[in-house]
Amino acid sequence: MAAYHNPHWPEAYDLWVEHLFGPGPYEDAAVFRNAFHGIIRARGTRREEQETPATNEPIAVFDLGTGTGRVVQDLLAGISRESEGGSGLSNAVGAPVFAWPLRFIGVEPSGPMLSRAERRTAPLVARVRQLADDAKTRLDVAWLRGEASDFADRAESKAAELSILHDGGGIVDLVIFAAGGFGHLVDDAEVKAFLEQARKALKRNGRVTVSILHEFLVEEDELDEAQTVGSILEANRAGAGVGSGDAEPIRLKSLDHPGIAYVRYPSKKSWDGEVQRDEFELGVVDQNGNELYHELEWKNRITSARQWSELVSAAELKILERIEGTIQTWWVLERK
Ligand SMILES: C[S@@+](CC[C@H](N)C(=O)[O-])C[C@H]1O[C@@H](n2cnc3c(N)ncnc32)[C@H](O)[C@@H]1O
Repeated sequence: MAAYHNPHWPEAYDLWVEHLFGPGPYEDAAVFRNAFHGIIRARGTRREEQETPATNEPIAVFDLGTGTGRVVQDLLAGISRESEGGSGLSNAVGAPVFAWPLRFIGVEPSGPMLSRAERRTAPLVARVRQLADDAKTRLDVAWLRGEASDFADRAESKAAELSILHDGGGIVDLVIFAAGGFGHLVDDAEVKAFLEQARKALKRNGRVTVSILHEFLVEEDELDEAQTVGSILEANRAGAGVGSGDAEPIRLKSLDHPGIAYVRYPSKKSWDGEVQRDEFELGVVDQNGNELYHELEWKNRITSARQWSELVSAAELKILERIEGTIQTWWVLERK
């Protein structure tokens, strides 16, 4: 079964990530906060909007593959910190935090992940709304079942429900695809569909920020030599300092269900061309020690930086910036 669709996986996933990387916030929080500030700054330079901000269209941020909503939570936490501290956003861009209505939309193919995202984010939404008069108008967070390859079409057809503007001029200011979720797009057709959806959805001044994990990134033309793929990736993994983290079973205590523990068993990895299949068992252990096993898997595709930039260009987008992280690289894209 595709791991993300298993109802036990969302909590186990969060606990596993925390086990591997600590409690966060992670290295991408600053990257996405800067991207968000950049969008607000671009709006703030449009004089007529500064003068009548309340009448303006919402700023819409789409988080693709939102999982359990971590990136949306990081952005909301940033807004909350900056406004409560009286510094940051408003001073940085010369406009009040809620000068424009803010819309955050988490897009995710898995129902169980999305339910957890909604549940985990709700207290933060309530907290940030307390900062705004007319709270619901100024801040709305919505969760949309969908994929990178169809998010724009789905969002357009639900524009009213998502309280975003759909007037033919694009629906989104910032698209985020975080934490290597992009690697789950396992063929060129899916990548092309994602880029076309992003191109179609972007408003004027809109941006896309995509993370590709170093583990699955090949810089040069090495991809042509299929037999070297495995060794390139091994080297990437070692160079990026990412241990698979799962040489031994990892036991994770549930917080939602006291007395229950999850066991994340080591992965078995295999290759089909450029696509890696990662299969593992998830054990769910009850109070009496009975263990239920789920056989789970996901797939990740290798990306060649060269092919990626060609696909970006073919979709009438261009690379504005490339940002190097510890375990991933982010590409910032805009319309050509
Ligand atoms: C590595 S997790 C990252 C979750 C979250 N963005 C975070 O940073 O914590 C990847 C997410 O991408 C989702 N995903 C898988 N295939 C996808 C697709 N085709 N389009 C959008 N998201 C996808 C998975 O269900 C999963 O929630």
